[in-house]
Amino acid sequence: MNFKKVDAADIVFFQQAIGVEYVYTDEASIKKYSVDETVDASFAPEVVLKPVSAEEISKILSYCNQQKIPVSPRAAGTGLSANSLPVEGGITLSIERMNHILEIDERSLQVTTEPGVVTEFLQNTLKEKGLFYPPDPSSRGSCFIGGNVACNSGGPRAVKYGVVKDYVLNLEVVLPSGKIMWTGANVLKNSTGYNFTQLFVGSEGTLGIITKIVLKLIPHPTTNVVMLVPFNSMEKASEAVSAVFRAGIVPSCLEFMERDAIEWVCKFLGDVTIAIDDETQAHLLIEMDGNDMAQIQKECEKLYEVISEFGCGEILFADSEAQKNDLWRMRRNAAYAIKKTAVTIEEDTVVPRADLPILLKSIKRIGAKYGFKSVCYGHAGDGNVHVRIVKGELSDEAWKNIIQKKAVREIFEEVHQLKGTISGEHGIGWIQRQYMDIKFDEEQLNLMRGVKAVFDPNGILNPSKIF
Ligand code: LAC
Ligand code: ZN
Repeated sequence: MNFKKVDAADIVFFQQAIGVEYVYTDEASIKKYSVDETVDASFAPEVVLKPVSAEEISKILSYCNQQKIPVSPRAAGTGLSANSLPVEGGITLSIERMNHILEIDERSLQVTTEPGVVTEFLQNTLKEKGLFYPPDPSSRGSCFIGGNVACNSGGPRAVKYGVVKDYVLNLEVVLPSGKIMWTGANVLKNSTGYNFTQLFVGSEGTLGIITKIVLKLIPHPTTNVVMLVPFNSMEKASEAVSAVFRAGIVPSCLEFMERDAIEWVCKFLGDVTIAIDDETQAHLLIEMDGNDMAQIQKECEKLYEVISEFGCGEILFADSEAQKNDLWRMRRNAAYAIKKTAVTIEEDTVVPRADLPILLKSIKRIGAKYGFKSVCYGHAGDGNVHVRIVKGELSDEAWKNIIQKKAVREIFEEVHQLKGTISGEHGIGWIQRQYMDIKFDEEQLNLMRGVKAVFDPNGILNPSKIF
């Protein structure tokens, strides 16, 4: 694709369209927006724009579409697949100023929000009204709801409540042509033509820019129990996971953490201490929620019967809100803690839940074959495991050409064999697209390219992403 570079006349146009103070070409801004949370990925935008409305975005897009200037939309920049980085240069379009919750409809249990609202802020605002928007990526304290929709994020609660796509009812989007449109309706059922709404969920900013989001809400559960369960082997911990669901128990979260992950994150945080027996190799972090503590306790007894068959050790029940928070802080900071203390890459594997033990065994087998250490943690209840591959003593050459090219590919091939997939919640972005051929053949990828071309014939929106 031959894109045009941003020139002085373009800058004047942008300044007139959105205001001089929201057009950034200074070094500090360019540097800040060149990276997100992805390891080893940096691409500098030529200019950063911070529009405040769909109308302003419409002006920018129709202009860039005519001029063939690439536009990469960006939410909070917490992505792990370089989803928002301007790989082809051009414009980074930040939606950070579009940060208002527009309407909370307590009659129909819906919220309409702009995309730049921090997910946790949205959740806390709704909770004050007794309402619940469950999807809670680990980065919820800093990520934006718009980025969550664009990447179809998940998080620990997905196991009971579903992921972002299960809550998105309707979206206002701006197309590269400049057209502003709603994708669907504010309803729970909709079989009216193709499902534009779900096409935009997870499309990673390649089809249009999301400017308003209507989400389904549910009443907030009033109470919960959080426990940390040790096991002597990863196999036993992961075998217990599917047994829990087969017994008819649905925890609100069922997370897996290898021993190393807990040790790493506790050391990083400094203020959370978990006593771990020498024999313990893995933990399940389990949360059961509801509105009736007696009922939850009954479920916990049933849960104990199931997991004790897999030889679990003594369970740590969080006995205060502070202890619950500590356990969750530990889990939520795992990726960050490891990333900040070692050179690593993270893969986002998903398999059918009962095949989790096979997946974990395969990851370790592939690690032994290629000589890498891995630390696994993630959303076991969804069959979704994050694999942190640690560079350690490996040479730069081996790290780039053997681990990232061959070993990761082998992990993903195993995942595919198990009828799983190569991203459960982080998206493909730029970094994972080299593996898309494992999931889709050329004909299938051409169908995706065809869909993209209908919405974005000049290919200006978030180019070089997904395929
Ligand atoms: C987590 C992020 C990395 O689960 O998805 O911690
Ligand atoms: Zn995750």
